[in-house]
Amino acid sequence: MNVQPRESDRAASDEALAREIEGAPATDTTGMAMETTLLSPRFYTTDFDEMDAIDVTPVREDWDDLLAQMKSDPNKGHFKKDETWENPDWENMDPQLKRELIDFLVSSCTAEFSGCVLYKEMKRRGNNPDICELFSYMSRDEARHAGFINDALRDAGVAVNLGFITKKKKYTYFRPKFIYYATYLSEKIGYARYITIYRHLEANPDKRFHPIFNWFKEWCNDEHSHGEAFALLMRTDPKLTSGINVYWIRFFLTAVYATMWVRDHAREAFHEALDVDIDWYDQEVFRKTNVIARQVFPIELDIDHPAWIPTLRRIEAAFKDMEAADKRGGIGGKLGKGWAGARAGLGFLRLYTLPVKKNEVPDSVRLEPAY
Ligand SMILES: [Fe+2]
Ligand SMILES: [Fe+2]
Repeated sequence: MNVQPRESDRAASDEALAREIEGAPATDTTGMAMETTLLSPRFYTTDFDEMDAIDVTPVREDWDDLLAQMKSDPNKGHFKKDETWENPDWENMDPQLKRELIDFLVSSCTAEFSGCVLYKEMKRRGNNPDICELFSYMSRDEARHAGFINDALRDAGVAVNLGFITKKKKYTYFRPKFIYYATYLSEKIGYARYITIYRHLEANPDKRFHPIFNWFKEWCNDEHSHGEAFALLMRTDPKLTSGINVYWIRFFLTAVYATMWVRDHAREAFHEALDVDIDWYDQEVFRKTNVIARQVFPIELDIDHPAWIPTLRRIEAAFKDMEAADKRGGIGGKLGKGWAGARAGLGFLRLYTLPVKKNEVPDSVRLEPAY
């Protein structure tokens, strides 16, 4: 992939640094953030006019409460390094751990920034004051989140060139309803991921090998509120969570959970350093997300079904085989990749068709962070 920046010298020096750093990924971090694969965080675009036409009257009271809270900006001063910030010893870090930590930071930064770009564009294109106000607060938060992670990457000399990827990364078009399902889920999963790591490290402070984990508690509250906003948006129109759309919700739940499983299981050294069992962590995040999503989704995936974890493992193995076949190259590699891809697809189909549990959606949609 051609990721040579044209306009910025700083970008060029970022990339040069990235290549110099021992143990850093073969590709630079801007290149990593540029990747558009099945598993990597994407940038989205949508029908902004349709989103602008949303009328929040049916949820007005909750909406006003939530926006007042966002306007008060509780995390205004939070995303700054303070005296407790101690840089990890990047130079002497185990190379595998270093690679995985950088991969974790880059993919988190890309995901945060993807939200920032989408929300900012919505605010820029919209005329509806409710919608514009919401998206201005959310893009403000995501810009801080992405910037803060990028500061951490800068310490290692491998900051992502966010301006470059804004212009050059491929954008995926999603209809507004798909944006609601996917973004709602990624906000709530983001909340569940951050708080689960934070609580684990609160109990095991000796495993906190990077200072950024200390920031996760207040951080996750932002993600929680962003998720609340999408829950309210979905509640403005009952059609969004009924009929054929239930199959779409099921699809997004399956895709998002399976993606998280495969990605996390590719970071063994990272989770070992945290002393986190990846199976436990992922199931814990799914469990929290399932409970939260009862506020708006009429179904939830049965993550305790006897076939759930075995099927996730099969998908994970298929992705590993796909990657290995890709590296092998040649006709054998191509065939191997096709076969592994088919196995991943079958695994996904199996996961998608596992029985789901039905939820009675509550009258009151709003939730407070509870974990
Ligand atoms: Fe965020
Ligand atoms: Fe967010």
